[in-house]
Amino acid sequence: MFEELLERWDGEQVAVRYDEPTRAWMFLGVHSTVLGPAMGGTRLKTYRQPEDGLRDVLRLSAAMSYKQAAAGVPYGGGKAVLAVAAVPAPGSTERRTLLLRYAALVESLHGTYVTAADMNTAAPDMDVIGERTTHVLGRSPDHGGAGDPAPGTALGVFHGIRSTWQHVTGSPDLTGVTVLIQGVGSVGDRLADHLHEAGADVIAADADPARAEKTAERVGGSVVDADGVIGATCDVYAPCATGAVLTAATIPRLACRIVAGAANNQLGEPGDAALLRQRGILYAPDYVINAGGVIHLAGYETLGWDEAMMQARLAGIGETLLGLYETAEREGITTAEAADRLARERIAARA
Ligand code: NAI
Repeated sequence: MFEELLERWDGEQVAVRYDEPTRAWMFLGVHSTVLGPAMGGTRLKTYRQPEDGLRDVLRLSAAMSYKQAAAGVPYGGGKAVLAVAAVPAPGSTERRTLLLRYAALVESLHGTYVTAADMNTAAPDMDVIGERTTHVLGRSPDHGGAGDPAPGTALGVFHGIRSTWQHVTGSPDLTGVTVLIQGVGSVGDRLADHLHEAGADVIAADADPARAEKTAERVGGSVVDADGVIGATCDVYAPCATGAVLTAATIPRLACRIVAGAANNQLGEPGDAALLRQRGILYAPDYVINAGGVIHLAGYETLGWDEAMMQARLAGIGETLLGLYETAEREGITTAEAADRLARERIAARA
């Protein structure tokens, strides 16, 4: 089963370890180092079987190559999965042991792979990993890192929404524009503030209704049930929770002009981008609009950018999107295809 998955993969290398003392499977996927060391987060998760963890790492590391290339940062694509029987509690000895053993594996690749936080991992975990390897981004500021990348992601998404609105209407002015944010967590909640400041009307939805209420109250917005997001009328639908929200089942029911949000892997199938296009809904490719997180990490921790440079590069996400929309129209392709093409061209130019 492992062989089949690996033979079909077009990446550079995968490190696989079954770590007997912690009984964790560790998969490190180095998809591409053409643009720089393979960078991407560490996902800590329970899988039905180890193959599912490997499948995730192969898919996610390839997606990171595209994200880094589109973001224009000097990194290639990588990802890691720690497939565990049960996710150890934050701060527990068990978690610390797992992270230190994993950090030794990262270190053994000598910087070919650089890790960061992902699902179920955060800055305190990166601090632990940093005890054993320097090839880690997103440690807490107390430990010399740039901390949580969510503020960068949220600001990048905000710029992306403005540009997408500009492409559709001719003006980036968001005054009175209705934006439905699905998931007001680390990114969505901050996005609500940016939108509110720009004069937009925020509609918040969250699987945790109290969260949605809190955000809506703060920004003078309204709330919609998590179950009622698809089909709710709005100008912009901003998925900021889970992936696979754009499918053959949901797209016909969307009542928006734009889809532009932070969630990873928004399309159920690559072909679903064509369904959005047929419906005249402009889709901001997820890995382009949500690249603020990697820009935050690379800019502050690797490239030594100051605040002004960071602001300019996050605003640059909006400019990249405008370019993609023009390409898509000119070439008669979807915006998702235009993004993939841009990423592939940037990688090929350096290969
Ligand atoms: P988070 O876990 O802080 O927030 C997610 C929120 O969505 C939570 O409030 C949760 O209750 C809610 N939620 C979950 N399922 C839902 C559903 N079906 N309907 C409505 N709400 C639901 O996550 P975070 O960090 O804000 O990330 C959001 C998305 O953006 C994820 O897909 C993540 O992969 C992606 N992303 C995040 C980045 C970051 O810097 N945090 C960077 C790039 C992508």
